[in-house]
Amino acid sequence: MPRERKRVLVTGAAGFMGSHLVDALVAEGHQVYGVDDMSGGYWRNVHPQSEFTVLDLRDQEATDAYIRQHRPEIIFHMAADATEGRSQFTPISSTERNYLAYLHVLVPAIREGMRKMVLISSMSVYGAQPVPFSEEMPRLPEDIYAIAKASMERSTEILAEVHGFQYTIIRPHNVYGERQNLADPYRNVIAIFINRLLQGRPFYIYGDGEQKRAFSHVDDFTPYCLRAGFDDAANGEIFNIGPREEHSINEVARLVLRHFGYDPDNPPEALRPVYLPPRPKEVREAYCTLEKAQRLLGYRTTVPLDAGIRRMVAWAKELGPQPMRYLENGLELTTGNAPATWTKELM
Ligand SMILES: NC(=O)c1ccc[n+]([C@@H]2O[C@H](COP(=O)([O-])OP(=O)(O)OC[C@H]3O[C@@H](n4cnc5c(N)ncnc54)[C@H](O)[C@@H]3O)[C@@H](O)[C@H]2O)c1
Repeated sequence: MPRERKRVLVTGAAGFMGSHLVDALVAEGHQVYGVDDMSGGYWRNVHPQSEFTVLDLRDQEATDAYIRQHRPEIIFHMAADATEGRSQFTPISSTERNYLAYLHVLVPAIREGMRKMVLISSMSVYGAQPVPFSEEMPRLPEDIYAIAKASMERSTEILAEVHGFQYTIIRPHNVYGERQNLADPYRNVIAIFINRLLQGRPFYIYGDGEQKRAFSHVDDFTPYCLRAGFDDAANGEIFNIGPREEHSINEVARLVLRHFGYDPDNPPEALRPVYLPPRPKEVREAYCTLEKAQRLLGYRTTVPLDAGIRRMVAWAKELGPQPMRYLENGLELTTGNAPATWTKELM
């Protein structure tokens, strides 16, 4: 049954996951508004049928005015500084772009009568608890980014209880796919591997590469995120979204090499992966239960990692190599084993 047309705001709309969600919302015929400060977003991702505004959500006054003017009924909050590993080295800007920016959206939205907030959180809120992570587990953040996401989640629950609005919290896995930012040297392992090979240079692997992750192609994320915004069954719920299958970083490395046409057992000497010391606070394993998303959102994994990486490599080859975008003002802290790829801007 077609959904009723709504005024929907997507923050982070020029970013990777936000832009895919905008496409899906436009296709359903909604009035779609998008905002992004372009710190990690691209104009090429902005949907021409959405009403897009460049807005930095750290600017409380401007954000307040924007929400007052547009009065969205449903908000999908995607905007973030999602560089989890880097957040120990940029704790102030991470908190401003994540926790504070979110409150700048949420507070006026509540005042203007928003009906539903879909908060895109992160699996990082589970911290180092034993896998698989399930939604009932407590929040035990182990890093600065996760602290912000956990605070965003809890603030949503508290404010919803006091002020009466609907919400859904979504905790995605490592999402990858077409339009992911290839130029971010701080995150997105698959994107970095691909960009390095496009540049004709080897990629770096932190630690022994045997740390494991579950990876979601963006096509296995967007439909369920959308559904969470409209289905009453999702109200007041937290969902893990992503596949159950885990893959080591070494396996990912082999797949990327293979889809570039190299023999992963014997790549050209110049493209052999380079191993670096492990990153501080990186967890060894991270995957979730997905029964709840299956039951309430109809979640199914449809894109296996091999096929997803093949598609992403084909897209990236069309786009071409991207110069890495390092922070203009550098890290806030360079002590505590900051990875050399960041301090020395090796990429
Ligand atoms: N990609 C993943 O693997 C993954 C996993 C778990 C959670 N998430 C969450 O999903 C969401 C989307 O992530 P993504 O991978 O698409 O990242 P992305 O960087 O492509 O998108 C985030 C967007 O937010 C924008 N943004 C940042 N600060 C802003 C500000 N102050 N004002 C306005 N816009 C701002 C950026 O320019 C960017 O376009 C984020 O909330 C992230 O924490 C992503």
